[in-house]
Amino acid sequence: MTLIETVSELRAWRRSAGKVIFVPTMGALHEGHATLVKEARQMAGSSAQVAASIFVNPLQFGPNEDFDRYPRTLEADLALCEASGADMVFAPAVREVYQADRSIKILETSLSNVLCGASRPGHFDGVCTVVAKLFNLVQPDESVFGKKDYQQLAIIRRLVRDLDIPVIIHGIETVREVDGLAMSSRNRYLTPEERAQAPALRAALVTARDAWHSGVTCGNSLLALIHDHLATHAKLGREDYVALVDQQTLESLAQAQPRSLIALAVHFGKARLIDNIELE
Ligand code: PAF
Repeated sequence: MTLIETVSELRAWRRSAGKVIFVPTMGALHEGHATLVKEARQMAGSSAQVAASIFVNPLQFGPNEDFDRYPRTLEADLALCEASGADMVFAPAVREVYQADRSIKILETSLSNVLCGASRPGHFDGVCTVVAKLFNLVQPDESVFGKKDYQQLAIIRRLVRDLDIPVIIHGIETVREVDGLAMSSRNRYLTPEERAQAPALRAALVTARDAWHSGVTCGNSLLALIHDHLATHAKLGREDYVALVDQQTLESLAQAQPRSLIALAVHFGKARLIDNIELE
């Protein structure tokens, strides 16, 4: 596996790389990321290249968010990428990606006004800007994103559609701990007591999906089931949002229908956990 840290080396690598499947990450990698790289490996087969990036993007962190304390674990991340089948990892410094006098960014004006975007102004503009830059740098044919960050996935799909970026986007199922907690780099912020309650997020979503399967379509009723479950089983948590939305537009829905999504975010001490479930 090749490690590349500069744009000029990356451009040289790209010239002879052929077809590329790309996994952008911010590092602090866990089994969820390993799955993304392995899926990319499978898509690439033996003829195409799997590229990953490790870059903690300052543009997507708010002033009171965890940019400085976001875990940086490059050596372990590289080992995980290699073991999962990556051919190349691009791990640039911030100054390599952003010029000091940069003056252009991408604004997303619709899908980012709800869910996580509502409480993280500018976050998805930062994500769109860095992903567009990474796509320009790596020039992948296809790219994979986890469904845990469902809003991000929907926005990236919109980004490539609206800017005619020729990259096929794949959404990959969320990888979970055995007790159902979605894997996240931020789980490490949980105290043992918070960690014990965190699986309630998944359990609450499954309760709502089971109700939908048994015929409940009223959005308020489904969301009430989730609020009740969290109130009982996640007492240390503080809800940010629980919402029933369309999977593509993220517009709020009064009635669940096929291709709906229930998404939630809950604060547990220093961690803000997100999860979601598709209603098909
Ligand atoms: O999901 C992430 O890790 C980041 O938001 C991404 C897509 C790598 C952009 O920085």
